[in-house]
Amino acid sequence: MAEILIIGAGGVGRVVVHKCAQEKTFDKITLASRRLSSCQAYQKEVKERYNKDINIAEVNADSVADLITLFRQVKPDIVLNIALPYQDLTIMEACLQTGIHYLDTANYEHPETAKFEYKEQWAYHDRYKEAGIMALLGSGFDPGVTNVFCAYAQKHYFDEIETIDILDCNAGDHGYPFATNFNPEINLREVSANGRYWENGTWIETDPMEIKMVWDYPQIGKKDSYLLYHEEMESLVKHIKGLKRIRFFMTFSQSYLTHMKCLENVGMLGIEEVEHQGCKIIPIQFLKTLLPDPASLGSRTKGKTNIGILAKGKKEGKERTIYIYNVCDHEATYKETLSQAVSYTTGVPAMIGAKMMMQGIWMDKGVFNMEQFDPDPFMEALNQDGLKWFVKEL
Ligand SMILES: NC(=O)c1ccc[n+]([C@@H]2O[C@H](COP(=O)([O-])OP(=O)(O)OC[C@H]3O[C@@H](n4cnc5c(N)ncnc54)[C@H](OP(=O)(O)O)[C@@H]3O)[C@@H](O)[C@H]2O)c1
Repeated sequence: MAEILIIGAGGVGRVVVHKCAQEKTFDKITLASRRLSSCQAYQKEVKERYNKDINIAEVNADSVADLITLFRQVKPDIVLNIALPYQDLTIMEACLQTGIHYLDTANYEHPETAKFEYKEQWAYHDRYKEAGIMALLGSGFDPGVTNVFCAYAQKHYFDEIETIDILDCNAGDHGYPFATNFNPEINLREVSANGRYWENGTWIETDPMEIKMVWDYPQIGKKDSYLLYHEEMESLVKHIKGLKRIRFFMTFSQSYLTHMKCLENVGMLGIEEVEHQGCKIIPIQFLKTLLPDPASLGSRTKGKTNIGILAKGKKEGKERTIYIYNVCDHEATYKETLSQAVSYTTGVPAMIGAKMMMQGIWMDKGVFNMEQFDPDPFMEALNQDGLKWFVKEL
């Protein structure tokens, strides 16, 4: 039995708190966030749905001192960062200073430069090891389950994987002309950046959306898929044997791309402060205020997501292609957790990662990415906890 502290009561935080409340491993749950009102709403849902009491707290997760005060009051066994990537380092630091295990779903992002990388988080490895605690990085779907799919392919299907394409499709329709399915600032910074993929030991940069392919996603159909840089590639190139190329593709509708281009052209995706009638504003943060809250999309979203990996390589000298994927239905996830499938596919693996750690199944000292552990128990938990997966030999 373990005590868990979840930081961040947004779209993904709602799923994490619902799934933790359904799971026996966590006997005490605390949800903390910037605004107590969001925590109170989810506390009420959990009581109504599962007849379970959870504790709530207000915290500024940008402040290491405030976090340490909270951790000393709550005394959790593990802290989950389900707030934003900007808070990864403050929460990791507070966990280090209090000797508590850490988990997140997205790698550290510099607020002032639209850039994300593992460097600063990996730099904690030796200090976490010395303190006898563990950090599990990127326990969402992508990163997260996609890393586990790669480790599973490597363990069961290949002697050597030569190429991996990660394929992420959200065919959900929320009925708004434009909205993002997770935090708009993080999402738009990610998709408007240059693309990047890894081949023969070097990173190759592309213009945003320069490379497009059409993939036929099971249960969805053919969709335009665009090459993006995505963070799991940074750790997978280190850990997957024999890899020669890895790419990441995500689907976007023409309407989404046109909206995004217009917003970019008029400066609304800017991350630098601008003066507006005597006030200082950051355009992308103002845009977040205008756009629908991703946590509110659940009740209106219909359709499915399909995220998977296509791995090619050799087994006993023979060429082989394996496709491992999950399909998730927005309406079904709303019924279960009052959330759309993008939040659900992120929140369920976060709960499973914490469960693996607290049950001692995935436990070590230091800072780790998902593919560094045995994928089998995690894959089994995905099937049990709502994210059924399929393997196809192509
Ligand atoms: N790996 C994956 O597959 C994957 C996929 C999607 C998302 N993600 C990640 O999941 C995380 C959550 O996404 P989301 O869509 O749930 O975002 P969200 O709806 O914007 O929720 C973020 C929550 O964190 C809170 N928060 C923000 N800054 C804070 C601070 N300084 N102190 C305390 N609380 C703070 C926010 O509080 P307020 O409500 O007061 O603003 C909000 O409740 C993000 O890191 C995102 O990158 C990962």
